[in-house]
Amino acid sequence: MASTALPRSLLVVGSGGREHTLVRTLLASPAAPRVICAPGNAGIALDAPCFPVAADDVPGLVALAQREQVDFVVVGPEVPLSLGLADRLQELKIPVYGPKADGARLEASKIFTKQILLKHRIPTAPAAFFSEVAPALAYLRTRSIPIVIKADGLAAGKGVIVATSLPEAEAAVRDMLDGGKFGSAGRQLLVEDCLFGEETSILVVVSGRDYVILPTSQDHKRIGDGDTGPNTGGMGTYSPAEVVTPSLLARIENEIVRPSVNAIADEGIAFCGTLFIGIMLTPTGPSVIEYNTRFGDPETQVVLPRLATDLLALLLAAATGKLAQVGPLVVKPDYALCVVIAARGYPEKFSKGDVITFPAPATLPPATTIYHAGTAKNAAGAIVTNGGRVLGVTALAPTLRAAADRAYAACEQIQCASKYFRRDIGARQLNRR
Ligand code: AMP
Ligand code: GLY
Repeated sequence: MASTALPRSLLVVGSGGREHTLVRTLLASPAAPRVICAPGNAGIALDAPCFPVAADDVPGLVALAQREQVDFVVVGPEVPLSLGLADRLQELKIPVYGPKADGARLEASKIFTKQILLKHRIPTAPAAFFSEVAPALAYLRTRSIPIVIKADGLAAGKGVIVATSLPEAEAAVRDMLDGGKFGSAGRQLLVEDCLFGEETSILVVVSGRDYVILPTSQDHKRIGDGDTGPNTGGMGTYSPAEVVTPSLLARIENEIVRPSVNAIADEGIAFCGTLFIGIMLTPTGPSVIEYNTRFGDPETQVVLPRLATDLLALLLAAATGKLAQVGPLVVKPDYALCVVIAARGYPEKFSKGDVITFPAPATLPPATTIYHAGTAKNAAGAIVTNGGRVLGVTALAPTLRAAADRAYAACEQIQCASKYFRRDIGARQLNRR
Protein backbone atom coordinates (compact mmCIF):
# COMPACT_ATOMS: atom_id res chain seq x y z
CA MET A 1 0.00 0.00 0.00
CA ALA A 2 1.10 3.59 -0.56
CA SER A 3 3.06 5.12 2.27
CA THR A 4 1.18 8.43 2.68
CA ALA A 5 -0.01 8.91 6.26
CA LEU A 6 -3.66 7.98 6.40
CA PRO A 7 -6.18 10.72 7.17
CA ARG A 8 -7.37 11.04 10.75
CA SER A 9 -10.56 12.85 9.93
CA LEU A 10 -12.66 12.67 6.81
CA LEU A 11 -15.87 13.96 5.32
CA VAL A 12 -18.18 11.88 3.13
CA VAL A 13 -20.55 13.98 1.00
CA GLY A 14 -23.99 12.62 0.14
CA SER A 15 -27.06 11.01 1.67
CA GLY A 16 -27.79 7.72 -0.07
CA GLY A 17 -27.09 4.02 0.30
CA ARG A 18 -23.83 4.54 -1.54
CA GLU A 19 -22.70 7.04 1.08
CA HIS A 20 -23.80 4.82 3.97
CA THR A 21 -21.65 2.06 2.47
CA LEU A 22 -18.73 4.45 2.03
CA VAL A 23 -19.04 5.63 5.65
CA ARG A 24 -19.19 2.07 7.02
CA THR A 25 -16.28 0.88 4.88
CA LEU A 26 -14.08 3.89 5.66
CA LEU A 27 -14.85 3.59 9.41
CA ALA A 28 -13.59 -0.02 9.22
CA SER A 29 -10.17 1.12 7.98
CA PRO A 30 -7.26 0.03 10.19
CA ALA A 31 -6.45 3.77 10.39
CA ALA A 32 -9.65 4.16 12.50
CA PRO A 33 -10.40 7.64 11.19
CA ARG A 34 -13.05 10.04 12.44
CA VAL A 35 -15.72 10.07 9.74
CA ILE A 36 -18.35 12.79 9.36
CA CYS A 37 -21.03 13.06 6.70
CA ALA A 38 -23.07 15.82 5.04
CA PRO A 39 -26.00 15.73 4.86
CA GLY A 40 -26.26 11.98 5.59
CA ASN A 41 -29.47 10.17 6.56
CA ALA A 42 -30.99 8.54 9.63
CA GLY A 43 -28.90 5.38 9.26
CA ILE A 44 -25.61 7.14 8.61
CA ALA A 45 -26.30 9.24 11.72
CA LEU A 46 -26.16 6.05 13.80
CA ASP A 47 -22.58 5.50 12.60
CA ALA A 48 -21.12 8.98 12.12
CA PRO A 49 -21.92 12.62 13.00
CA CYS A 50 -24.03 14.16 10.22
CA PHE A 51 -24.12 17.86 9.39
CA PRO A 52 -27.13 19.47 7.69
CA VAL A 53 -25.30 20.82 4.65
CA ALA A 54 -26.91 19.89 1.34
CA ALA A 55 -24.85 17.90 -1.16
CA ASP A 56 -25.18 20.71 -3.74
CA ASP A 57 -24.13 23.51 -1.34
CA VAL A 58 -20.49 23.79 -2.43
CA PRO A 59 -19.56 26.81 -0.26
CA GLY A 60 -21.29 25.18 2.72
CA LEU A 61 -19.41 21.91 2.23
CA VAL A 62 -16.07 23.68 1.85
CA ALA A 63 -16.75 25.68 5.02
CA LEU A 64 -17.69 22.46 6.85
CA ALA A 65 -14.49 20.71 5.72
CA GLN A 66 -12.44 23.66 7.02
CA ARG A 67 -14.34 24.09 10.27
CA GLU A 68 -14.15 20.38 11.10
CA GLN A 69 -10.50 20.28 9.97
CA VAL A 70 -10.96 17.17 7.89
CA ASP A 71 -7.91 16.03 6.00
CA PHE A 72 -9.72 14.06 3.29
CA VAL A 73 -13.05 14.43 1.49
CA VAL A 74 -14.81 11.60 -0.37
CA VAL A 75 -17.62 12.82 -2.63
CA GLY A 76 -20.54 10.48 -3.35
CA PRO A 77 -22.92 12.16 -5.84
CA GLU A 78 -22.26 13.78 -9.21
CA VAL A 79 -23.94 17.14 -8.62
CA PRO A 80 -21.36 18.69 -6.24
CA LEU A 81 -18.59 17.40 -8.50
CA SER A 82 -20.06 19.10 -11.55
CA LEU A 83 -20.50 22.27 -9.45
CA GLY A 84 -16.76 22.32 -8.72
CA LEU A 85 -16.52 20.99 -5.15
CA ALA A 86 -13.29 19.14 -5.89
CA ASP A 87 -11.83 22.22 -7.59
CA ARG A 88 -12.48 24.37 -4.50
CA LEU A 89 -11.10 21.75 -2.09
CA GLN A 90 -7.96 21.30 -4.18
CA GLU A 91 -7.39 25.06 -4.17
CA LEU A 92 -7.44 24.83 -0.37
CA LYS A 93 -5.02 21.85 -0.48
CA ILE A 94 -7.62 19.55 1.09
CA PRO A 95 -7.18 16.10 -0.53
CA VAL A 96 -10.37 15.00 -2.24
CA TYR A 97 -11.51 11.81 -3.95
CA GLY A 98 -13.76 12.80 -6.84
CA PRO A 99 -13.03 14.62 -10.09
CA LYS A 100 -12.95 18.35 -10.68
CA ALA A 101 -15.71 19.92 -12.78
CA ASP A 102 -13.88 19.20 -16.05
CA GLY A 103 -13.85 15.48 -15.23
CA ALA A 104 -17.41 15.49 -13.90
CA ARG A 105 -18.45 16.75 -17.33
CA LEU A 106 -17.98 13.18 -18.55
CA GLU A 107 -21.20 12.44 -16.68
CA ALA A 108 -22.84 15.86 -16.90
CA SER A 109 -22.72 16.00 -20.72
CA LYS A 110 -23.49 12.91 -22.76
CA ILE A 111 -22.53 14.77 -25.96
CA PHE A 112 -19.09 15.67 -24.55
CA THR A 113 -18.53 12.02 -23.64
CA LYS A 114 -19.78 10.66 -26.96
CA GLN A 115 -17.41 13.00 -28.80
CA ILE A 116 -14.47 11.67 -26.76
CA LEU A 117 -15.53 8.04 -27.28
CA LEU A 118 -15.85 8.51 -31.05
CA LYS A 119 -12.62 10.53 -31.38
CA HIS A 120 -10.61 7.92 -29.48
CA ARG A 121 -12.29 4.98 -31.23
CA ILE A 122 -13.59 3.43 -28.02
CA PRO A 123 -16.46 1.00 -28.79
CA THR A 124 -19.81 2.81 -28.42
CA ALA A 125 -23.09 3.09 -30.36
CA PRO A 126 -23.14 5.52 -33.31
CA ALA A 127 -24.94 8.76 -32.45
CA ALA A 128 -25.71 12.27 -33.68
CA PHE A 129 -26.32 15.48 -31.69
CA PHE A 130 -29.14 18.01 -32.13
CA SER A 131 -30.45 21.25 -30.68
CA GLU A 132 -33.27 21.66 -33.23
CA VAL A 133 -36.26 19.47 -33.93
CA ALA A 134 -36.33 19.28 -37.75
CA PRO A 135 -32.84 17.85 -38.33
CA ALA A 136 -33.32 15.46 -35.38
CA LEU A 137 -36.56 14.12 -36.91
CA ALA A 138 -34.89 13.79 -40.31
CA TYR A 139 -32.03 11.81 -38.76
CA LEU A 140 -34.48 9.57 -36.87
CA ARG A 141 -35.98 8.46 -40.18
CA THR A 142 -32.58 7.25 -41.37
CA ARG A 143 -32.10 4.93 -38.36
CA SER A 144 -33.85 1.77 -37.23
CA ILE A 145 -36.20 1.20 -34.30
CA PRO A 146 -35.71 0.83 -31.36
CA ILE A 147 -33.71 4.02 -31.11
CA VAL A 148 -32.39 5.85 -28.06
CA ILE A 149 -33.00 9.55 -27.32
CA LYS A 150 -30.82 11.05 -24.57
CA ALA A 151 -30.95 14.48 -22.97
CA ASP A 152 -27.41 15.87 -22.98
CA GLY A 153 -27.32 17.01 -19.36
CA LEU A 154 -27.92 15.60 -15.87
CA ALA A 155 -31.55 14.50 -15.55
CA ALA A 156 -31.39 12.37 -12.39
CA GLY A 157 -31.26 9.16 -14.43
CA LYS A 158 -34.48 9.94 -16.33
CA GLY A 159 -33.14 11.59 -19.47
CA VAL A 160 -32.85 8.41 -21.56
CA ILE A 161 -35.74 7.15 -23.67
CA VAL A 162 -35.41 3.84 -25.47
CA ALA A 163 -38.14 4.38 -28.08
CA THR A 164 -39.79 1.30 -29.57
CA SER A 165 -41.68 3.17 -32.31
CA LEU A 166 -40.98 6.16 -34.55
CA PRO A 167 -43.84 8.25 -33.06
CA GLU A 168 -42.47 7.61 -29.56
CA ALA A 169 -39.00 8.70 -30.69
CA GLU A 170 -40.40 11.81 -32.37
CA ALA A 171 -42.39 12.71 -29.28
CA ALA A 172 -39.28 12.33 -27.11
CA VAL A 173 -37.36 14.68 -29.40
CA ARG A 174 -40.16 17.29 -29.35
CA ASP A 175 -40.65 16.98 -25.58
CA MET A 176 -37.00 17.74 -24.94
CA LEU A 177 -36.22 20.37 -27.57
CA ASP A 178 -39.58 22.17 -27.78
CA GLY A 179 -41.44 21.12 -24.63
CA GLY A 180 -38.65 21.89 -22.19
CA LYS A 181 -38.81 18.42 -20.64
CA PHE A 182 -35.67 18.01 -18.46
CA GLY A 183 -35.14 21.81 -18.64
CA SER A 184 -31.68 22.90 -19.70
CA ALA A 185 -30.46 19.27 -19.57
CA GLY A 186 -32.65 18.55 -22.62
CA ARG A 187 -31.82 21.63 -24.67
CA GLN A 188 -29.46 19.42 -26.65
CA LEU A 189 -29.90 15.73 -27.23
CA LEU A 190 -28.31 12.66 -28.72
CA VAL A 191 -30.00 10.21 -31.02
CA GLU A 192 -28.15 6.95 -30.50
CA ASP A 193 -28.46 3.49 -32.03
CA CYS A 194 -29.86 0.89 -29.68
CA LEU A 195 -27.47 -1.69 -28.26
CA PHE A 196 -28.63 -5.16 -27.33
CA GLY A 197 -27.23 -7.41 -24.65
CA GLU A 198 -26.63 -7.64 -20.95
CA GLU A 199 -25.36 -4.61 -19.06
CA THR A 200 -22.54 -4.56 -16.54
CA SER A 201 -21.10 -1.85 -14.34
CA ILE A 202 -17.33 -1.51 -14.31
CA LEU A 203 -16.11 0.77 -11.52
CA VAL A 204 -12.54 2.00 -11.90
CA VAL A 205 -10.53 3.97 -9.35
CA VAL A 206 -8.63 6.45 -11.51
CA SER A 207 -5.75 8.81 -10.82
CA GLY A 208 -4.42 10.38 -14.02
CA ARG A 209 -3.23 7.49 -16.19
CA ASP A 210 -3.19 5.01 -13.30
CA TYR A 211 -6.21 2.90 -12.50
CA VAL A 212 -7.49 -0.01 -10.42
CA ILE A 213 -10.52 -1.96 -11.63
CA LEU A 214 -12.94 -2.81 -8.81
CA PRO A 215 -14.94 -6.08 -8.70
CA THR A 216 -17.62 -6.43 -11.39
CA SER A 217 -21.32 -6.01 -10.65
CA GLN A 218 -24.69 -5.91 -12.34
CA ASP A 219 -27.57 -3.54 -11.54
CA HIS A 220 -31.32 -4.08 -12.06
CA LYS A 221 -32.56 -0.75 -13.40
CA ARG A 222 -36.25 -1.46 -14.00
CA ILE A 223 -38.78 -1.18 -11.19
CA GLY A 224 -40.50 -4.53 -11.81
CA ASP A 225 -39.60 -8.20 -11.66
CA GLY A 226 -38.34 -9.60 -14.96
CA ASP A 227 -36.92 -6.18 -15.90
CA THR A 228 -40.31 -4.61 -16.55
CA GLY A 229 -41.65 -1.11 -16.02
CA PRO A 230 -39.86 2.22 -15.89
CA ASN A 231 -36.16 2.77 -15.22
CA THR A 232 -35.10 3.63 -11.67
CA GLY A 233 -31.83 4.60 -10.02
CA GLY A 234 -31.26 0.87 -9.48
CA MET A 235 -33.32 -1.73 -7.59
CA GLY A 236 -30.61 -4.21 -6.70
CA THR A 237 -27.17 -5.50 -7.54
CA TYR A 238 -24.88 -8.43 -7.18
CA SER A 239 -21.14 -8.97 -7.43
CA PRO A 240 -19.27 -10.53 -9.11
CA ALA A 241 -21.13 -10.44 -12.42
CA GLU A 242 -19.96 -13.78 -13.81
CA VAL A 243 -21.17 -12.88 -17.29
CA VAL A 244 -17.91 -10.91 -17.29
CA THR A 245 -15.55 -13.87 -17.51
CA PRO A 246 -11.84 -13.29 -16.88
CA SER A 247 -11.19 -13.22 -20.65
CA LEU A 248 -14.05 -10.79 -21.24
CA LEU A 249 -12.74 -8.59 -18.43
CA ALA A 250 -9.31 -8.60 -20.09
CA ARG A 251 -10.97 -7.53 -23.33
CA ILE A 252 -12.93 -4.78 -21.51
CA GLU A 253 -9.69 -3.56 -19.94
CA ASN A 254 -7.85 -3.52 -23.28
CA GLU A 255 -10.62 -2.12 -25.45
CA ILE A 256 -12.43 0.16 -23.03
CA VAL A 257 -10.85 0.84 -19.61
CA ARG A 258 -7.27 1.65 -20.58
CA PRO A 259 -8.27 3.56 -23.74
CA SER A 260 -10.82 5.55 -21.72
CA VAL A 261 -8.38 6.49 -18.98
CA ASN A 262 -5.79 7.51 -21.57
CA ALA A 263 -8.34 9.41 -23.70
CA ILE A 264 -9.45 11.41 -20.68
CA ALA A 265 -5.83 12.26 -19.84
CA ASP A 266 -5.10 13.09 -23.50
CA GLU A 267 -8.03 15.52 -23.43
CA GLY A 268 -6.19 17.41 -20.69
CA ILE A 269 -8.40 16.27 -17.83
CA ALA A 270 -6.47 15.36 -14.65
CA PHE A 271 -9.09 12.85 -13.50
CA CYS A 272 -9.10 11.59 -9.93
CA GLY A 273 -12.09 9.60 -8.74
CA THR A 274 -14.30 6.73 -9.81
CA LEU A 275 -14.86 6.26 -13.51
CA PHE A 276 -18.01 4.15 -13.63
CA ILE A 277 -18.31 2.69 -17.11
CA GLY A 278 -21.74 1.40 -18.07
CA ILE A 279 -21.13 -1.34 -20.62
CA MET A 280 -23.46 -3.29 -22.90
CA LEU A 281 -22.16 -6.77 -23.65
CA THR A 282 -23.32 -6.96 -27.25
CA PRO A 283 -22.95 -10.04 -29.46
CA THR A 284 -20.05 -8.28 -31.22
CA GLY A 285 -18.29 -7.19 -28.03
CA PRO A 286 -18.46 -4.77 -25.12
CA SER A 287 -19.68 -1.27 -25.92
CA VAL A 288 -19.75 1.85 -23.73
CA ILE A 289 -23.25 3.11 -22.82
CA GLU A 290 -22.11 5.91 -20.56
CA TYR A 291 -19.53 7.18 -18.13
CA ASN A 292 -20.45 8.21 -14.61
CA THR A 293 -17.83 9.99 -12.54
CA ARG A 294 -18.72 8.60 -9.12
CA PHE A 295 -19.44 5.32 -7.41
CA GLY A 296 -22.66 3.62 -8.55
CA ASP A 297 -25.70 3.29 -6.34
CA PRO A 298 -26.48 0.43 -5.54
CA GLU A 299 -23.29 -1.02 -7.11
CA THR A 300 -21.27 0.37 -4.18
CA GLN A 301 -23.39 -1.66 -1.76
CA VAL A 302 -22.06 -4.92 -3.24
CA VAL A 303 -18.60 -3.90 -4.46
CA LEU A 304 -17.16 -2.31 -1.31
CA PRO A 305 -18.20 -5.09 1.11
CA ARG A 306 -16.18 -7.53 -1.03
CA LEU A 307 -12.92 -5.56 -0.73
CA ALA A 308 -10.28 -6.89 1.62
CA THR A 309 -8.00 -4.02 0.56
CA ASP A 310 -8.30 -0.93 2.80
CA LEU A 311 -10.60 1.44 0.89
CA LEU A 312 -9.28 4.50 2.73
CA ALA A 313 -5.69 3.80 1.66
CA LEU A 314 -6.85 3.09 -1.91
CA LEU A 315 -8.84 6.31 -2.30
CA LEU A 316 -6.17 8.42 -0.62
CA ALA A 317 -3.51 6.96 -2.93
CA ALA A 318 -5.67 7.97 -5.90
CA ALA A 319 -6.19 11.47 -4.51
CA THR A 320 -2.48 12.00 -3.89
CA GLY A 321 -1.11 10.62 -7.16
CA LYS A 322 0.19 7.40 -5.60
CA LEU A 323 -2.19 4.87 -7.08
CA ALA A 324 0.64 3.16 -9.00
CA GLN A 325 2.25 2.26 -5.66
CA VAL A 326 -0.82 0.36 -4.48
CA GLY A 327 -0.46 -3.41 -4.64
CA PRO A 328 -2.99 -5.63 -6.38
CA LEU A 329 -6.54 -5.34 -5.09
CA VAL A 330 -7.49 -8.06 -2.60
CA VAL A 331 -11.08 -9.23 -3.02
CA LYS A 332 -13.02 -11.61 -0.78
CA PRO A 333 -14.21 -14.80 -2.50
CA ASP A 334 -17.76 -14.23 -1.22
CA TYR A 335 -20.67 -13.23 -3.42
CA ALA A 336 -22.56 -10.07 -2.48
CA LEU A 337 -26.17 -9.26 -3.30
CA CYS A 338 -28.11 -6.11 -2.50
CA VAL A 339 -31.90 -5.76 -2.55
CA VAL A 340 -33.16 -2.18 -2.62
CA ILE A 341 -36.27 -1.53 -0.55
CA ALA A 342 -38.18 1.33 -2.18
CA ALA A 343 -41.32 3.24 -1.25
CA ARG A 344 -44.27 1.83 -3.22
CA GLY A 345 -44.98 4.08 -6.21
CA TYR A 346 -41.29 4.90 -6.90
CA PRO A 347 -40.01 6.01 -9.46
CA GLU A 348 -43.21 8.02 -9.81
CA LYS A 349 -45.27 9.27 -6.86
CA PHE A 350 -44.58 7.75 -3.45
CA SER A 351 -45.31 8.62 0.17
CA LYS A 352 -42.78 9.81 2.74
CA GLY A 353 -42.85 9.61 6.50
CA ASP A 354 -43.85 5.94 6.88
CA VAL A 355 -42.38 4.42 10.03
CA ILE A 356 -39.84 1.64 9.44
CA THR A 357 -39.46 -1.14 12.00
CA PHE A 358 -36.08 -2.86 11.94
CA PRO A 359 -35.20 -6.32 13.24
CA ALA A 360 -32.85 -6.52 16.21
CA PRO A 361 -29.32 -6.76 14.73
CA ALA A 362 -28.71 -10.11 16.44
CA THR A 363 -31.68 -11.62 14.59
CA LEU A 364 -30.43 -10.64 11.12
CA PRO A 365 -29.02 -13.42 8.93
CA PRO A 366 -25.21 -13.68 9.10
CA ALA A 367 -23.09 -11.22 7.06
CA THR A 368 -26.14 -9.08 6.32
CA THR A 369 -26.11 -5.28 6.49
CA ILE A 370 -28.94 -2.77 6.14
CA TYR A 371 -27.68 0.39 4.44
CA HIS A 372 -29.93 3.43 4.67
CA ALA A 373 -30.77 5.61 1.65
CA GLY A 374 -33.97 7.69 1.86
CA THR A 375 -34.52 7.65 5.62
CA ALA A 376 -35.02 10.39 8.21
CA LYS A 377 -36.02 10.70 11.86
CA ASN A 378 -39.47 12.10 12.60
CA ALA A 379 -40.37 14.40 15.51
CA ALA A 380 -41.07 11.36 17.70
CA GLY A 381 -37.59 9.99 17.00
CA ALA A 382 -38.77 7.13 14.77
CA ILE A 383 -36.93 6.28 11.54
CA VAL A 384 -39.22 6.95 8.58
CA THR A 385 -39.12 6.77 4.80
CA ASN A 386 -37.81 9.96 3.18
CA GLY A 387 -37.09 9.07 -0.45
CA GLY A 388 -37.89 6.70 -3.29
CA ARG A 389 -35.12 4.27 -2.54
CA VAL A 390 -35.25 3.73 1.21
CA LEU A 391 -32.83 0.95 2.18
CA GLY A 392 -30.29 -1.38 0.61
CA VAL A 393 -30.04 -4.82 2.17
CA THR A 394 -26.69 -6.43 1.36
CA ALA A 395 -25.68 -9.96 2.22
CA LEU A 396 -22.42 -11.79 1.62
CA ALA A 397 -22.19 -15.58 1.34
CA PRO A 398 -20.10 -18.29 -0.31
CA THR A 399 -22.69 -18.64 -3.10
CA LEU A 400 -24.94 -16.12 -4.83
CA ARG A 401 -27.97 -18.22 -3.89
CA ALA A 402 -27.05 -18.10 -0.20
CA ALA A 403 -26.43 -14.34 -0.43
CA ALA A 404 -29.87 -13.88 -2.02
CA ASP A 405 -31.53 -16.05 0.63
CA ARG A 406 -29.92 -13.99 3.40
CA ALA A 407 -30.78 -10.63 1.87
CA TYR A 408 -34.38 -11.63 1.20
CA ALA A 409 -34.80 -13.07 4.70
CA ALA A 410 -33.71 -9.69 6.08
CA CYS A 411 -36.11 -7.87 3.72
CA GLU A 412 -38.96 -9.88 5.23
CA GLN A 413 -37.87 -8.85 8.73
CA ILE A 414 -38.10 -5.13 7.91
CA GLN A 415 -41.56 -3.65 8.34
CA CYS A 416 -42.88 -0.58 6.61
CA ALA A 417 -46.35 0.15 5.16
CA SER A 418 -44.99 1.31 1.80
CA LYS A 419 -42.29 -1.38 1.46
CA TYR A 420 -41.66 -2.51 -2.12
CA PHE A 421 -38.80 -4.55 -3.50
CA ARG A 422 -38.05 -6.72 -6.49
CA ARG A 423 -38.14 -10.45 -5.82
CA ASP A 424 -35.71 -11.44 -8.55
CA ILE A 425 -32.43 -9.70 -7.81
CA GLY A 426 -29.64 -11.93 -9.11
CA ALA A 427 -32.05 -14.13 -11.10
CA ARG A 428 -30.16 -13.73 -14.36
CA GLN A 429 -26.99 -15.21 -12.86
CA LEU A 430 -28.81 -17.73 -10.66
CA ASN A 431 -30.77 -19.07 -13.63
CA ARG A 432 -27.68 -19.33 -15.76
CA ARG A 433 -26.20 -21.96 -13.48
P1 AMP B 1 -27.80 6.11 -19.02
O1 AMP B 1 -28.51 7.22 -18.29
O2 AMP B 1 -26.97 6.56 -20.15
O3 AMP B 1 -27.20 5.14 -18.07
O4 AMP B 1 -28.96 5.23 -19.67
C1 AMP B 1 -29.92 4.61 -18.86
C2 AMP B 1 -30.22 3.26 -19.38
O5 AMP B 1 -30.75 3.36 -20.69
C3 AMP B 1 -29.01 2.35 -19.53
O6 AMP B 1 -28.66 1.74 -18.34
C4 AMP B 1 -29.49 1.38 -20.57
O7 AMP B 1 -30.30 0.40 -19.99
C5 AMP B 1 -30.35 2.25 -21.46
N1 AMP B 1 -29.56 2.69 -22.62
C6 AMP B 1 -28.80 3.80 -22.73
N2 AMP B 1 -28.22 3.87 -23.95
C7 AMP B 1 -28.62 2.76 -24.62
C8 AMP B 1 -28.37 2.24 -25.93
N3 AMP B 1 -27.60 2.88 -26.82
N4 AMP B 1 -28.95 1.07 -26.27
C9 AMP B 1 -29.75 0.41 -25.40
N5 AMP B 1 -30.03 0.84 -24.16
C10 AMP B 1 -29.47 2.01 -23.77
N1 GLY C 1 -26.88 2.30 -10.46
C1 GLY C 1 -26.62 3.19 -11.51
C2 GLY C 1 -26.03 4.46 -11.12
O1 GLY C 1 -25.52 4.65 -10.05
O2 GLY C 1 -26.03 5.36 -11.95
